[in-house]
Amino acid sequence: MTDAKKKSAGDKGPDRRKKTRRKKLRVLVLMHEDLVPPDDVSGLSESEFHRIKTESDILGALEKLGHETRKLGVRDAVLPIRHAVEEWEPDIVFNLLDEFQGEAIYDQHVVAFLELLRVPYTGNNPRGLVLARDKALSKKVAMYHRIQVPRFFTVRRNHRVRKPKRIDFPLIVKSLVEEASMGISKASIVRDQDALETRVEFMHERIGTDAIVEQFIPGREIYVGVLGNERLIALPPRELIVDELEPGEDLIATESLKHNVHYQERHGVRIQGAKNLPDGIAAALERVSKRIYRMLSLEGYARIDYRLSEDGKLYFLEANPNPELANYEELAHAAAKAGISYENLIQRILSLGLRR
Ligand SMILES: Nc1ncnc2c1ncn2[C@@H]1O[C@H](COP(=O)(O)OP(=O)(O)O)[C@@H](O)[C@H]1O
Ligand SMILES: [Mg+2]
Repeated sequence: MTDAKKKSAGDKGPDRRKKTRRKKLRVLVLMHEDLVPPDDVSGLSESEFHRIKTESDILGALEKLGHETRKLGVRDAVLPIRHAVEEWEPDIVFNLLDEFQGEAIYDQHVVAFLELLRVPYTGNNPRGLVLARDKALSKKVAMYHRIQVPRFFTVRRNHRVRKPKRIDFPLIVKSLVEEASMGISKASIVRDQDALETRVEFMHERIGTDAIVEQFIPGREIYVGVLGNERLIALPPRELIVDELEPGEDLIATESLKHNVHYQERHGVRIQGAKNLPDGIAAALERVSKRIYRMLSLEGYARIDYRLSEDGKLYFLEANPNPELANYEELAHAAAKAGISYENLIQRILSLGLRR
């Protein structure tokens, strides 16, 4: 995001653990084969470095914390994981894989495999990954717990759109299981049956997944990071801000807004502490985020996304298990605001993995 370069306030913050001697751990850092940072990154171009920033930040933090690290790049074979675990006997695996064999939905199998190998790992367990991935399933669970969600219906591939009468336009069409705003553009907001059908077809054909169609909630967009296994900490709420919206344009996190630095600069896109929230919303965000985290079996770290409607109602959009951990990304910024430095955040994630 654009406030990437701001120094994290938490670097100066309290770090109570510093005084107790930390155990030196053997940490196997599991990452995608294409994202393994070279030992010397000085020769990389800016864009090459940007690609491996998360991996490189985490390796750097682990080293600063005094742990012994080993990098393991994988793409489509589980055997190297097993060999590394059996031969090197790491205390813990730092899991940075968010896909396997090019399939995002296989991330859960990798952690399931780590469980079978009986090696501790960081981040979310396979149950949490499965429950949070499916944007309809996670909303169904939330509804059972009386948490407000946008009305929605799904359209499976090879099925026609059948919009329930109780759900009115405008709607937003999304992938049921993809993340990072894949397939989300201005055209995702649809206001009539034709546009709805076209966009669902786009989801089925071009993105290649089932679609979820939700009531479009105009308003503010808020993110809450949560850390923990049993005892949870909700980090201070953050808000997506876009300075330059065209007249009448709705605020949504499109693919370009999330990933295109030029777009972000041109439109004044940033994520900052959520200011001037209506009465009771800050407390509700903290309470509801922890409840959602628990009901979806999340562990380690996650980020919960919401819309805050113009009439002050909070709608749960989705939960992101294992969100980006680079030190300029949202979770690190939110942690810094809570007085948790980047190294402290990484150490906490390790400790949570060990304590599970
Ligand atoms: N029901 C909704 N109402 C308004 N905006 C939405 C809604 N659902 C999604 N969006 C917008 O689309 C973005 C991406 O949707 P999200 O469900 O978070 O999927 P992703 O996994 O791709 O982040 C959100 O950040 C938000 O800006
Ligand atoms: Mg999201």
